[in-house]
Amino acid sequence: LGSQLRGTNVYFVGMMGTGKTSVARNLADRMGRYTFMDTDAIIEQLMQAPVAKVFEEQGEEEFRDIEARVLNELHSYVKLVVATGGGIVKEKRNWGKLQTGLVVWLDMAIDDIVKRLSSNEEEVSKRSLLQGGDVAAKLQAIYDERKAMYEQASTSSSADVRVYVSPDDSVDAVVL
Ligand code: S3P
Repeated sequence: LGSQLRGTNVYFVGMMGTGKTSVARNLADRMGRYTFMDTDAIIEQLMQAPVAKVFEEQGEEEFRDIEARVLNELHSYVKLVVATGGGIVKEKRNWGKLQTGLVVWLDMAIDDIVKRLSSNEEEVSKRSLLQGGDVAAKLQAIYDERKAMYEQASTSSSADVRVYVSPDDSVDAVVL
C-alpha cells in the first residue's frame, strides 16, 4: 500500500463505533513515516473541550464548520492516516478534500456496532447523537441517512475502498 500511495493521505470514514481510530492508528504505525491524526481529537484540542460538549453547546452546525476547517487544514499535509468523525460525509464540501487522498469506508452491521458500543457506557455517552433513546434505532436511522454519502465519498476513484468489518476482526485483519 505504502508505495502505491506515494505520500497521499488515507482517510477512514464510517459510522461511529466501527473502530476508525484504532485501525487508522495501527495503519500509520505499520506504514512508517505516516502520521496518525484524528479529527475529533484535533477538535478537542482546538476547543479545549470534549466533542460532546462542543456538539451540545455550540450545536451541530458549528461543530460541522469546525470539522470542515480541520479537514481543510489536514488535506494540505501529506503522509497522514486520518480517522474522521462519523458525520464528516454529511457535508458535501468535505468530499473533495477527502478525495484528494485514499478514502476507506469502514462499514459494519448496526447490530455489531451496538454490541461494540454497549459494552462500554462511556463510548455511548461520548456520542451526542446517541443520547436519549434506543441506541440501535438511532444508529440505524443515522446509517440509513448516510449510507449513500459514505458510498459516494468513498468511491471517487478506483483506488478507494470499502472494508466490511466484523467486531471479531482484529485490527490486523483490516489493515493487512
Ligand atoms: C459523529 C461521530 C463522532 C463525533 C461526533 C459526531 C457523527 O465521531 O464526530 O459525535 O455525526 O457520526 P466518531 O465517528 O469517532 O464516533
